[in-house]
Amino acid sequence: MRIGILGTGTVGNTLGTKLVELGHDVKMGSRTTSNEKAAEWVKSTHSSKASQGSFADAASFGEVLLNCTPGSLCLEVLKMAGAENIRGKILVDVSNPLDFSKGMPPALTVANTDSVGEQIQRTFPDAKVVKALNTVAAPVMVNPRIVPGDHDIFVCGNDSGAKDRVKKILGDFGWINIIDLGDITNSRGMEMWLALWIRLMMKYQSPIFNLHIQRQN
Ligand SMILES: NC(=O)c1ccc[n+]([C@@H]2O[C@H](COP(=O)([O-])OP(=O)(O)OC[C@H]3O[C@@H](n4cnc5c(N)ncnc54)[C@H](OP(=O)(O)O)[C@@H]3O)[C@@H](O)[C@H]2O)c1
Repeated sequence: MRIGILGTGTVGNTLGTKLVELGHDVKMGSRTTSNEKAAEWVKSTHSSKASQGSFADAASFGEVLLNCTPGSLCLEVLKMAGAENIRGKILVDVSNPLDFSKGMPPALTVANTDSVGEQIQRTFPDAKVVKALNTVAAPVMVNPRIVPGDHDIFVCGNDSGAKDRVKKILGDFGWINIIDLGDITNSRGMEMWLALWIRLMMKYQSPIFNLHIQRQN
């Protein structure tokens, strides 16, 4: 499959590398076509399946797109990517609405009655937005086994076919417990979990953990 990754940070790198390893063709996009971090990533894969370009290049290339940019900036990024390049496509939103401007722990830029996932879906109504993977650190996203025991990953979105394709990708990453929360408004809960996630990360001085939902049978 052709996948467009928007973002040259840790998440874009980690997901891009795993997707290339799984045999996908991946283009990493940024604000400039010759971004150094994207060039380093392409080199690090040692694969002709990896390439780089602008946000618009990556969006037009991908059948499936991954938003790996800051939650507070991603509407701008997606506008740069171009609505025409996003229309009708699965857009996996991995972002979190974190505001570090006043230090740690960060505040959420949107919460309670709205979320980045919903903002994206509203702004690009023809995209099939699926929120996923934002609830764990990048190394855990592509290698859930580094956290011992049973633990869970969440998805939500309005299009069930799109969610099925994303669940298949998550399965290829090694995820077994995939909890489908329902429509895109469930992004609120997935993003607000970060308020607790950040504090756990500060307490344990490590981002390599996750949660597991235990229910009464
Ligand atoms: N790090 C994690 O483990 C983790 C885990 C779960 C979720 N997340 C979420 O995943 C997202 C990506 O995180 P990250 O740490 O990999 O990367 P990041 O540093 O949050 O974002 C990097 C990207 O943001 C773009 N960017 C920065 N400033 C911009 C601006 N003013 N206008 C447009 N684009 C701008 C950069 O563009 P250029 O390439 O042009 O520089 C780059 O591609 C975030 O929302 C984060 O909260 C992160």
